[in-house]
Amino acid sequence: MDKFLITGGRPLKGAVAISGAKNSALPCMAAALLTAETVILHNLPYARDIITQRRLLEDLGATVLTPELRTHKINASHIEVFEAPYELVKTMRASVLALGPLLARFGKAKVSLPGGCAIGTRPIDLHLRGFEQLGAEVRLEGGNVVARAPQGGRLIGATISFEKVTVTGTENLLMAATLAKGRTVLRNAACEPEISDLCELLNRMGARVRGAGTPTIEIDGVEALGGAQHTIIPDRIETGTFIVAAAITGGELEIKDCQPEHLTAVIAKLREVVVVIEDLNPSTLRVKRGNALLASDVSTEPHPNFPTDMQAQYMALMTQAEGHATITETIFENRFMHASEMQRMGAQIHLNGRIATVSGPTKLTGAPVLASDLRASASLVLAGLVAQGETMIERVYHIDRGYERIEAKLRAVGADIQRIRESVTAQLTDAAGTDAAAIASLSGTS
Ligand code: UD1
Repeated sequence: MDKFLITGGRPLKGAVAISGAKNSALPCMAAALLTAETVILHNLPYARDIITQRRLLEDLGATVLTPELRTHKINASHIEVFEAPYELVKTMRASVLALGPLLARFGKAKVSLPGGCAIGTRPIDLHLRGFEQLGAEVRLEGGNVVARAPQGGRLIGATISFEKVTVTGTENLLMAATLAKGRTVLRNAACEPEISDLCELLNRMGARVRGAGTPTIEIDGVEALGGAQHTIIPDRIETGTFIVAAAITGGELEIKDCQPEHLTAVIAKLREVVVVIEDLNPSTLRVKRGNALLASDVSTEPHPNFPTDMQAQYMALMTQAEGHATITETIFENRFMHASEMQRMGAQIHLNGRIATVSGPTKLTGAPVLASDLRASASLVLAGLVAQGETMIERVYHIDRGYERIEAKLRAVGADIQRIRESVTAQLTDAAGTDAAAIASLSGTS
């Protein structure tokens, strides 16, 4: 397991280019399962979750070619397996996105039920209820969800009102509905830009989807979908993370290849706490800190409001702001794991259920800390960049899941951050240790 060693206190200066959105790339890759023709996706981020999703597609029988690092050519004409196994789902919940396309095109799918994760229980009941409303029979068998389309193998359009806004739930259901018989209406659908990006790809493949980006999406099912090419939108959360990186270190960054209109709530909030954000052109921002950062409350909400995926980074920023900021997490029940790590660096954070109160400004000092999930790891990197002395972040595989080479991008703008790779010998020792433990447990000695 790699670690990051950060020596804080350097203001970041220079330009950074934003990669494609992981959360858009994952459903778009799953959408390639809806057709026997080739789907070509450009601007995929080079992040671990993309490699995991690629492995899932290949395990199912698809061919994935990579003519360039960030382009995948996916052909799913020979799907032989209809199952996303536990080993994949447990490392990446988004593998449940295979369920909708497989069920719609082949009339059957089996996906391991994701368990809890570091940020809460995260059920997929709303996805499953939606599939049932499209006529599927859904059963639980040995920890797996087994779904079958009704007789004739085709789903049937229906009106589905989501009880709660769910991003991957909306994506799963809308992919399933593209090949269903008749019209499907999704109400209380998620409005995230990643949904619109997916719908753009689906429409290019021949789907008939209207209303993406609004709470009501209408899909007229078609008999078959075809191939298409599509470029993934820039990652709005990576953009927000770099805006905070510029502000927290008191530096000045030019953030290129981004789409600011996808993070208006984040930009508005950061301007309110006096981060100076200028639009240089439609895809470039210039960011620097104002004279002093001011505390301001925030509550996470579905798009277009402040995203839960920026909550941890905002908390890191608030440790450097004047006053008390109340941060309310309304989406996930257990998404403050980074708070206790920041406290170990000297942050003043009081937790009360889903509310965290950050008092600042505090001088953070470097410490060994543990990354618990993707965005929590990003917030610890940000805290490390401003802390005095050395911060060692363990378990950075979490950050590698969703950020493309974050340490290289940060180093290029002046951060002192190094990846400490676990040595090959340590890996071998570990593997030997694991084997020894496994053998010991088999023989009943441990
Ligand atoms: C997606 C994003 C994730 C982001 C989250 C919220 C991807 C790959 N991941 O996750 O980065 O943090 O949206 O913006 O796009 N819920 C249920 N039942 C369901 C589904 C969801 O109760 O069947 C609840 C969840 O527990 C959570 C809330 O609904 O409390 C929102 O979750 P959801 O939008 O589904 O998150 P994901 O799609 O998993």
